[in-house]
Amino acid sequence: MDDSKFLITGAHGQLGTALQVQYPNAQATDSNDLNIADWQTVKNFDWGNITTVLNAAGYTNVDGAESYEGRIAAWGVNSQAVANLARIAQQKDLLVVHISTDYVFDGIQKLHKEDEPLSPLSTYGASKAAGDVALSVWAKHYLLRTSWVIGEGKNFVRTMLELGQKAVNPTVVSDQVGRPTFTSELARVIDHLFKNQPAFGTYNVSNGGQAVSWADLTRAIFEDAGLDNTVTDTTTAEYYKDKPQAAARPLISLFDLTKIESTGFEPTDWRDDLKEYVKKELNQ
Ligand SMILES: NC(=O)c1ccc[n+]([C@@H]2O[C@H](COP(=O)([O-])OP(=O)(O)OC[C@H]3O[C@@H](n4cnc5c(N)ncnc54)[C@H](OP(=O)(O)O)[C@@H]3O)[C@@H](O)[C@H]2O)c1
Repeated sequence: MDDSKFLITGAHGQLGTALQVQYPNAQATDSNDLNIADWQTVKNFDWGNITTVLNAAGYTNVDGAESYEGRIAAWGVNSQAVANLARIAQQKDLLVVHISTDYVFDGIQKLHKEDEPLSPLSTYGASKAAGDVALSVWAKHYLLRTSWVIGEGKNFVRTMLELGQKAVNPTVVSDQVGRPTFTSELARVIDHLFKNQPAFGTYNVSNGGQAVSWADLTRAIFEDAGLDNTVTDTTTAEYYKDKPQAAARPLISLFDLTKIESTGFEPTDWRDDLKEYVKKELNQ
């Protein structure tokens, strides 16, 4: 596998950073080098000998996407940009790896399968769902739907560690359930797909292990960090009742991993990756 033929977009985000570690010879771009939301920029980019686009770019501020500027930015990078990538991929015969989210669903099904109809609740979710649809016109793709991404950058585990170290006893929602996905795991799945070349299409990807609520995830973070802060459960409705600008969130974000497992991939238990992640954070 010649990673010098890979292009990473959004290379300085959480996933992009992990992909740069996984593929050190890949061409890494951010929105200054290659604004994928702009078709003329994408069209005029020097595609040289690139064979594969790893699209780690996205507008991921779920609540920000509910604002005027936010919804324009979200639709630009989460939808239009994916249409642009599908279009250039068709012209240059590129393989596109793109990342989608549990937010394309309303969170009513107990377990999300790949073929569940799209049912986003929020602007972020709708913009990501439109991206999924845009990519579907170009078959040579892996669309990876994932949840609760944790890597190098702003994320839930880092926020809770900071609060924990400041002796805060947080109140955390306990009725949203899913599994975290460490960027190391996402990078491992992508590498597995390249090496094993299963059928193109959509795959659910998260860490394996028990389904967990945000409140219980916080307890696990504190346990691994040796912190004895108290976590109080609350409901999503209660937590957001005074935050009218907040996006609606799916309550169940749990992915069925059978399809990716059937390709020979064995998901790592999130409990193991969390321990490693917390250990590294505390040693920094
Ligand atoms: N974070 C989560 O919990 C989560 C959950 C499920 C799915 N996902 C999906 O996973 C993917 C990666 O998420 P992440 O957490 O790694 O994202 P992230 O840390 O927010 O990084 C996203 C990157 O996208 C870049 N970007 C934004 N607009 C761009 C544009 N027009 N052209 C090129 N690059 C642009 C940003 O770079 P600039 O600073 O240069 O703009 C940023 O570095 C996204 O598709 C996201 O929707 C994330």
